[in-house]
Amino acid sequence: MDVPSALVHRLFYPQVPAVMSAQRRGRVSAMPVVSYASISDSPPLLAVSCNPDGFTCKLAVGAKAFSLSVMPRSSMSSVERLAQVRGADVKDKLESVGLAHGSGTVLPVPVIEGAEAVLECQLRSNRQEGDHVLLVGLVKAAHASDAFSEFWDFSRYSPILYAGWRGGLTTYPPDKLRPGALRGRRAGRGRSRPSTG
Ligand SMILES: Cc1cc2nc3c(=O)[nH]c(=O)nc-3n(C[C@H](O)[C@H](O)[C@H](O)COP(=O)(O)O)c2cc1C
Repeated sequence: MDVPSALVHRLFYPQVPAVMSAQRRGRVSAMPVVSYASISDSPPLLAVSCNPDGFTCKLAVGAKAFSLSVMPRSSMSSVERLAQVRGADVKDKLESVGLAHGSGTVLPVPVIEGAEAVLECQLRSNRQEGDHVLLVGLVKAAHASDAFSEFWDFSRYSPILYAGWRGGLTTYPPDKLRPGALRGRRAGRGRSRPSTG
């Protein structure tokens, strides 16, 4: 088939979603992201493509810092909720979905408790590219759980493999125990990005 441009990003699924978080002036927000990449080792840089209307994106640009967290599969329902709650509507979006957090070791960014890895990033640049903003972050600190030592030990870390939004967050292989996965198959399609993907 010819793939419509609005569906091109789905050709890369399944993808491991990360959670981008930011805090500023007493507000905390976070969003799942799949459009991210490590783009330089020296200096260590990563890029995240964000919907500029999202509250988390605005907070990260205002704070000039953000964190990126790699979450275990056991946190999937909280990650799903992060795509449903609007950061603009709550004071602390992470807490509102049941994710406790502290502050970064070198930057004032949220660090999610129970994350398998957290990167603390200083915003280096942000520029509009098409309908998204490309945030480039300089990694000032990176921490990982004991499941990582040079490589992930997948017997200790089970990643979320995002397969698209179909009435809820779906994964590959499909997680038959989750109502969202079943709803999704009936619905056939979900809302398009940037709300979910
Ligand atoms: C698994 C997953 C991955 C997503 N990836 C992105 C992404 O890379 N960029 C983006 O702008 N939105 C992405 N979204 C949508 C945002 O997470 C969603 O719009 C979020 O609710 C924005 O919240 P905010 O307005 O509180 O910041 C993704 C959603 C899901 C469920």
